Amino acid sequence: MEQEKFEPKITAFVCNWCTYTGADLAGTSRLKYVTNIKMIRVPCTGRIDQVFIIKAFEKGADGVLISGCHPNDCHYNTGNFHARRRWILFRQLLNFIGIDSTRLHFSWVSASEGKKFVDVVTEVINKVKVQGKFKKYEKINKEFAIHE
Ligand code: FES
Repeated sequence: MEQEKFEPKITAFVCNWCTYTGADLAGTSRLKYVTNIKMIRVPCTGRIDQVFIIKAFEKGADGVLISGCHPNDCHYNTGNFHARRRWILFRQLLNFIGIDSTRLHFSWVSASEGKKFVDVVTEVINKVKVQGKFKKYEKINKEFAIHE
């Protein structure tokens, strides 16, 4: 019952050139998708620092999505390849520090794939709904908020 009410908060780091434009296309095409996703536009997935992801979880995200240009379509040639290699290692680090790495999702969505963007977001939301709320930082944040 509680799981049905749970609306996960998703933070999405999206590449300006592909996924962000794909999301925009979804909007202009009037495709409906959930609104509990916060999008942070970055120049390229290669620009995403791993600390951004940890910070997103720390600040209340239940799941994180990273999405950019398809392989060989990166506007900076190899940014997405560098990102992909980095994420493979980063998953192990996430698990090591106690963040379930299955809450981190990746996708390639081009500027013309508005429908795919909606499908990806829906899939991420549904997976995180099953996992439930991410609570690792809840207690720390509450204690910290008292002292602010
Ligand atoms: Fe989109 Fe590099 S410019 S992933």
